[in-house]
Amino acid sequence: MEEKGLGFIGAGNMAGAIVNGIVGTKTFPAQRIYVYDINREKCEALQKKAGIRTASSIEELVKNCGILFLAVKPQNFSEVLAAVKPFVNERILFVSIAAGISTGYITGELDCSCPVIRTMPNTPLLVGKGATAMCKTANVTDVDFQLVQSLFAACGTVTVLDESRMNAVISVNSSSPAYIYLFAKAMMDSAVGQGIDAKTALELICQTFEGSAAMLRQPDLTPEALIKMVSSPGGTTLKALDVFYEHHFEQMVDEAMKACTKRAEELGK
Ligand SMILES: NC(=O)c1ccc[n+]([C@@H]2O[C@H](COP(=O)([O-])OP(=O)(O)OC[C@H]3O[C@@H](n4cnc5c(N)ncnc54)[C@H](OP(=O)(O)O)[C@@H]3O)[C@@H](O)[C@H]2O)c1
Repeated sequence: MEEKGLGFIGAGNMAGAIVNGIVGTKTFPAQRIYVYDINREKCEALQKKAGIRTASSIEELVKNCGILFLAVKPQNFSEVLAAVKPFVNERILFVSIAAGISTGYITGELDCSCPVIRTMPNTPLLVGKGATAMCKTANVTDVDFQLVQSLFAACGTVTVLDESRMNAVISVNSSSPAYIYLFAKAMMDSAVGQGIDAKTALELICQTFEGSAAMLRQPDLTPEALIKMVSSPGGTTLKALDVFYEHHFEQMVDEAMKACTKRAEELGK
């Protein structure tokens, strides 16, 4: 597989982030990465930025590439797979980054039992701090799976899951940056209301998020133990936590995440 090219159908935000990560870390040679997008401007912008190549048609892309990233919106999958189908063969490995699109849908639309890796990345990938979950069909070789894992590892961390969990994981890593931003916004608004300027508050909040994530990664420290560590009897933190518990914060998060998964299942193919 090493000698073949890496192709991207779609040159949007996510494809750009993945390509920039791969090229920036030299995980795969830029001169063997091709991109095709119906929007030629986006294609050329990515070519210039990352020093990769463009393909002028899907046929040209498929001819040059052994691995094809499907990096279009879920609603464009049907047209893209129909366009790929005439040129496909069972040696081509497909990598989907789309929410809710199953490996069975891809092989079914292609009418070909190609190997498929289904991934669920997130937007922090744009700053090299992504968290990507992935699964594969049984016919993906270990070598190819490791190669694709290394491509995503170039812009973050990688976790392997069973496909049956790929809709639920959207609520954990892919939609979840929005929950974090909402929490940050609420904290900032309160800080500003209490007389702290927004820039200062944002910096303190970001550093607190990063530091708390590092604490959560410490072995033997559970979230419950960490909460206890901050909560002196009769102190300020307990007063804040009381308000969260009064408003059933944990139940709210559970409901939000389940609503996210339900929507992924409704939109899924
Ligand atoms: N954003 C997230 O948080 C996130 C997280 C995880 C996964 N994803 C997944 O990542 C995928 C890409 O998302 P994105 O945010 O990068 O989207 P995007 O910026 O809209 O990029 C998609 C690109 O594909 C192009 N395109 C549309 N139809 C095409 C076709 N038939 N052939 C070739 N190119 C075509 C679009 O062109 P036009 O702009 O002209 O339509 C656009 O340039 C989605 O499936 C999404 O589910 C996104």
